[in-house]
Amino acid sequence: MTQIKIQTPDDWHLHFRDGDMLNETVPATARCFKRAIVMPNLVPPVTNAKMVEEYRHRILAARPEGSKFEPLMTLYLTNGTTREDIIAAKQVGTVAAKLYPAGATTNSDAAVKSLDPLFPIFEEMQKQGMLLLIHGEVTDDHIDIFDREKEFIDRNLTRIVATFPELKIVFEHITTKDAVDFVVSANDNVAATITPQHLLLNRNDMLVGGIRPHNYCLPVLKRNIHQQALREVVATGNKKFFLGTDSAPHEKDKKESACGCAGCYSAWSAIELYTHVFDELDALDKLEGFASHHGADFYGLPRNHGTITLVKEDWTIPEKIILPNGNPIVPFFAGQNCTWKLID
Ligand code: DOR
Ligand code: ZN
Repeated sequence: MTQIKIQTPDDWHLHFRDGDMLNETVPATARCFKRAIVMPNLVPPVTNAKMVEEYRHRILAARPEGSKFEPLMTLYLTNGTTREDIIAAKQVGTVAAKLYPAGATTNSDAAVKSLDPLFPIFEEMQKQGMLLLIHGEVTDDHIDIFDREKEFIDRNLTRIVATFPELKIVFEHITTKDAVDFVVSANDNVAATITPQHLLLNRNDMLVGGIRPHNYCLPVLKRNIHQQALREVVATGNKKFFLGTDSAPHEKDKKESACGCAGCYSAWSAIELYTHVFDELDALDKLEGFASHHGADFYGLPRNHGTITLVKEDWTIPEKIILPNGNPIVPFFAGQNCTWKLID
């Protein structure tokens, strides 16, 4: 196949950031995605309905001329979140709330330190029909970073799913065979997003021959058997798995640092790289479901009108992008070849 047309896709997990960065990130995503689930881990985090509305307006203002791109907003859960916060957020159109265990990732210090007190909040979300998005990692010092996702499943996720069978839960950016197996065998209200980096790479790509900070993200890349499990499950076309880039920009010098930030900025190449992966898997017929159907169906939203077209053509992902503030950022897969290209 040398050309593929799919219904217009959505990105079910990304980070736009704020301020003038929006003038970079929003157009990059709006070039091919109709909607995106926007993460709330700003500084300060988006913890109430008013902040959701204000952030939404800032994103809308950064859309390119004539763009119909639609941000889907999320609320950042803390141990101070109340039932009233959930109800008010729902009233302004917030579609989901995000659970970050405190300390799990970028800007998560203000997040959830103790899970059990949040159970009444999950109950309210279940009642309101608001989805729960989970960064599924424990953060205890003594748990090895490569085991944190599995430990979260065993300790917390199993319990949340059993207690709230009607709550729609997205296990975000899964990285392990354990997570794949859990989602496959869970009830139909449990789904997962998968990033391009976790399909394309494993931990060797981060650590062999020198540390590659631009491949560092959280949850961290795992060993090859886990990458293979992710690739195998997307190739089956299972409707519980869908596209979520986790595109997460950090300036070049924040990544190339003695204590580098986690995150891969993939917005300019994500749909192309997913297509590249599905082609490698000989599963291009499953791309449209993953990119354009499964997420919308799970969220209970209509599928998009319109289509996008990709052609089989080699191109090199740029070495750097200059941000609106003049600073460089190194995009994900910089300098590497991608075998599919989006055309208008
Ligand atoms: O790699 C990541 N970067 N993982 C996350 O969970 C957060 C994100 C960010 O905000 O930079
Ligand atoms: Zn994320």
